[in-house]
Parts: sequence; C-alpha cells; structure tokens
Amino acid sequence: MTPITRRPSMPGGDPIGRRVQSRIYRNGALGVPMPTPRSPGALEDAARKKMSARAFAYVAGSAGAERTARANTDAFDRWEIVPRMLRDVAERDMGVDLFGRHHPTPFLLSPIGVQELAHPDADVATARAAAATGVPMIFSTQASRSMEECAAVMGEASRWFQLYWSSDDDVVVSFLERAEDCGCEALVVTLDTHVLGWRPRDLDKAFLPFAHGMGIAQYTSDPAFMRLATARAERAGPAEPRPRPTPAAIRTLLAMTRRHPGRFTDNIRSAMPQAAVETFLDVFSRSTLTWDDLDFLREHTTLPIVLKGIQDPHDAVRAVDAGMDGIVVSNHGGRQVDGAIGSLTVLPEIVARVGGAFPVLFDSGVRTGADAFKALALGATAVGIGRPYMYGLAIDGSAGVEAVVDHLAAELDLTMALAGASAIGDIDASFLRHR
Ligand code: FNR
Repeated sequence: MTPITRRPSMPGGDPIGRRVQSRIYRNGALGVPMPTPRSPGALEDAARKKMSARAFAYVAGSAGAERTARANTDAFDRWEIVPRMLRDVAERDMGVDLFGRHHPTPFLLSPIGVQELAHPDADVATARAAAATGVPMIFSTQASRSMEECAAVMGEASRWFQLYWSSDDDVVVSFLERAEDCGCEALVVTLDTHVLGWRPRDLDKAFLPFAHGMGIAQYTSDPAFMRLATARAERAGPAEPRPRPTPAAIRTLLAMTRRHPGRFTDNIRSAMPQAAVETFLDVFSRSTLTWDDLDFLREHTTLPIVLKGIQDPHDAVRAVDAGMDGIVVSNHGGRQVDGAIGSLTVLPEIVARVGGAFPVLFDSGVRTGADAFKALALGATAVGIGRPYMYGLAIDGSAGVEAVVDHLAAELDLTMALAGASAIGDIDASFLRHR
C-alpha cells in the first residue's frame, strides 16, 4: 500500500465518497497523519487548540445568548432522512449549474472575513483549496488578503465577490470594478450586517479585529478608499496633546502598522495606518439602504446579483420583483440577531414562494454532508460552508480547508447513495420527514 497524499479528483471514476473513505483508512493503516477531524465537534475542538482565545471567540461566537446559532443546527435535527432501497445508485453526480457555469459539487465557500485569525496565509490558502476542490470561493469584503492576490492563485477556478455596501459610492463602484476585473462570476450583497450584531464573546474580550487593522485588505488595496484615507491623514495635522499611550495602545498601533501595505519603516512614521482603520470604521456600511438602492448596483455591474441574508419569504419575493438573480437564505450563522428563526426553518417557505424564479442558495448551520442533503431536499440550489472551513484553515492551512470540503462532499455522496439519489436534481422533500 502507498499513502495517498493528493486529494482524489472530483469528477468521474469512483464516486468521491468511497475515494475519500479509502484514502483515510489507507493512510490510517500506514500511520500518515491526518490532522483535520471529521466529526463537527472534534473539528471545532482541534481548531480551538490552534487559535488564540480571541480569534476563536470571534469565529465561533454569535449574537446574544447564541440562540439563533442553536436554532440553525436544531432546525436540521427536526428533519429526518428516509432512505430508499434498490434504486441503482452506482453512478452518482453531485454537479450543479449556477450562473452559466457547471460545478462538480453543490457547495460554496461562504464569505468569511478576517481569515488571518485562523492562519497567516488566510484567504490565499482558502483560494488554493477552492481551486483544488472546484468549489467556488466567495471573497469577503472583510478579507485579510485582497481579491487580486486570491484570484492570482486560482487559475480559472470559480470565484464570486461579497459586498458590504460602503457608505461611500466611489468605494462601492471601485470594489465592483475590481471584482469584475479579477474574474468574479457573481456579486453577493450581504444585507444583514449594516451594523454589527451584539456579540458577547467579542465584547467580553473587547476585541474587534478591524480596529487592529485586521480584515481590511480589500480597502487598503483600493484606490478609491485610499484617497479617502490619505485625505483623512492629511487633515489630521499636528497631533493634539494626548494622554500618554498605554502599552496596549502601542501594541495595537504597531500591529496596524505591520498590516498596512508598504514598508514597516515607512509606515511607522506615517499617519496612514491609523487613518486607514479610522476611515474604514467611518465608511464600512450604511443603514439607510432600501430596495430602491439596488438599481445602483445594477447600473454599475454586469455580474449576476445575489442578495445574502434573506429570511422572510416576502423579502424573497421582493428580490425577484427587484430583478435580482438569486438569494442566499442565511442568518449569518446567528451572528446578527439573537433569538431569530433557524435558517433551515424558513427555507421551505421561501422555496415555495420563489424557488422556480432564481437560485435559492443556503447557509447557516451546515455541519455535515447529511445537513447539505437536507438543505438540498428542501429546495436549496447550493449550500454554503461557513465556520467548518475556517476551522480547517486553522488546523492545517489550505490542506485543512481542502480536507473539510472533501469530507463534506464525501459524506453528501455517501448519503445520496444510501438514501437512493443519483443526482442533485433527484433530492427532494419526499426524502424527508419532519418531526
Ligand atoms: C462570517 N460571515 C460573513 N458573511 C459575509 O457576507 N461577509 C463576511 O465577511 C462574513 N464574515 C464572517 C466571519 C466569520 C468569522 C463567520 C463565522 C461568518 C457569515 C458567513 O458567510 C455564513 O453566513 C455563516 O458562516 C454561516 O453560518 P455557519 O454555518 O458558519 O454557522
């Protein structure tokens, strides 16, 4: 037996479930280390051990008493799969078509900001894993590495851009142009985070990554944003007398300076690193947005526009009426509103209202391939992976993200085989019972 270190290719041949399974058992027999655990609890525990306490709190934490995060996973428990027998499922196909492109699996990497909290290679490591697995990566506006850097390691692989709608129009337009220039195939506009939710784990640590200059790489690589930051630095003028800085303030300033583009020795004498952070905090988002504002995006991009954060069936219908190209049924992993409805709970009603009109993507609470099966059965066109791939990134960098995607894809494939479905289009609500 020889160890299998390369990930098995997705399409064709033996279905991925068996290939991943046999790679794991074979490598186990040969003593090849496999650091990325399969069970969701073990995955989270292994990541916790690799991350600083505040980094883990930022990723794992949710809003308030974290009831929405629990509602997300509880919603999956309330649906049960009813397997069917004798249906010739030897050939299985997990492919889906989205916005004119075929994808080998129905998974997406949901946009996740501040990936440097998990691994120094951050978004670039995730981009490599996305390209290797054929799963589209959705670049976050709050990325730790610019979309251009990520696109540069992805070849022709699929990538989308997620927009947090800045209060500055020039920044928005510039982000859209850059997304098109670096080959993004869709624009995902996240609507549920025009202000940050109340997140006790972060509040108890008084830790907001952006205030330390983390997660603002899309901005500091952006000409329109840097014009604003430069104007601010110039306006700052001679410093007003300030109280003596604390050691923590000095550490924060040094961290900001290290992260700012350019040479540290130049940045340390400049007002720019701090001006960039302050400008970001000023222009991050706008709470004045209404449905009428969507026309602005349509005027400035040719990309399909997908609205992320939809939970209300009426909003889903409004997205159709507004000429949008899709939605992501998501509650941001429970990070925004505490005590909100589980994302899977609302999926069937939304699909019933708008399912035929455009793709209905789904995330929030997907932890296993069987979860993905349930979301697909309830009408999701594709399923976003969130925290699990951040945990993979923390555990083993790019290889950890690949492992998480492979494990989810393998489990979905085996669930399809054992439930009696050969293609994603075969998976419907007749496979489920609600308890
Ligand atoms: C997110 N999410 C997110 N969404 C978005 O549109 N832009 C972003 O920058 C981020 N950033 C982000 C950071 C972290 C640490 C987390 C955990 C989540 C939300 C993300 O896209 C997705 O909706 C959730 O992760 C889904 O929930 P689960 O399955 O991860 O619990």
